[in-house]
Amino acid sequence: MEGLTGLSIIFIALCYGAFSLFLVAFLAKVYGYAVTPSPLKIPTTPAPTTSLGVAGRMAGEVLFFTSLFKGNKWTWLGGYLFHLALAAVLLRHLRYFLDPVPLPVELMTYPGLEPGVWAGVVMIAALGYLFIRRLWVDRVKYISLFADYFALTLIGLIGITGALMKFFIRTDVEAVKEFTLGLATLHPANIPPDPMFIIHLLLVLALVVYFPFSKLMHMGAIFFAPTRTQVDDCRETRHVNPWAKEL
Ligand code: HEM
Repeated sequence: MEGLTGLSIIFIALCYGAFSLFLVAFLAKVYGYAVTPSPLKIPTTPAPTTSLGVAGRMAGEVLFFTSLFKGNKWTWLGGYLFHLALAAVLLRHLRYFLDPVPLPVELMTYPGLEPGVWAGVVMIAALGYLFIRRLWVDRVKYISLFADYFALTLIGLIGITGALMKFFIRTDVEAVKEFTLGLATLHPANIPPDPMFIIHLLLVLALVVYFPFSKLMHMGAIFFAPTRTQVDDCRETRHVNPWAKEL
């Protein structure tokens, strides 16, 4: 605590608080999914008939969003680009939390090319596209809720404040790294008192707290979706409703 400014103490507490809440709430949600009975055999056909087949189907869903691709090519394009770009942006951000910086993270900051930065631009564009799609396509607008626009806006604002720091209002990335590495190693350091960085961080903290209570939990929930994870073996094995077993 020695040498820390009041502002730093507030932000350090906010960061640890938000992260702890995220961890506990995320795990509690996943536990909830895991113990929720799925009384019916409802794999979407054509479905795999073996566990290995299910693993292949899940890999396709997670890595390529296969169901979305079959459903709507334009939504798939926006959604897939967004997630790929987000992954690259997050990979690049690991340089703030790791020392020494591993090679894959280093590649995202390759001087002169900086793929991680261009990924940031793609991410913001894809979010804009997904937002406009909700307003533009009548039947999508009809089923869109405040939560859908909120998630897109929040992540978009994180991207925009990040890009502002990268392209227009430079921040002291060395000072940022001292702060973030301090958090990661449990030796907290002062936060750089740069308004744009503080806004970026506050938005990130809002996202971290919001995440486990939102639709963004599809990240964990996909692994428990019976329509994707069940083996289509109802002709070979009688599927018994878990409640019926107790009768
Ligand atoms: C505690 C977590 C985070 C910290 C400390 C942080 C910090 C920063 C900093 C200092 C920059 C400017 C980079 C530069 O000037 O070279 C930046 C850029 C950026 N940030 Fe973050 N950020 C965090 C989380 C996030 C998250 C979760 C997202 C996405 C949802 C994000 C999206 C971006 C984007 C798109 C850029 C611009 C491209 C780039 O420089 O990578 N940030 N961030």
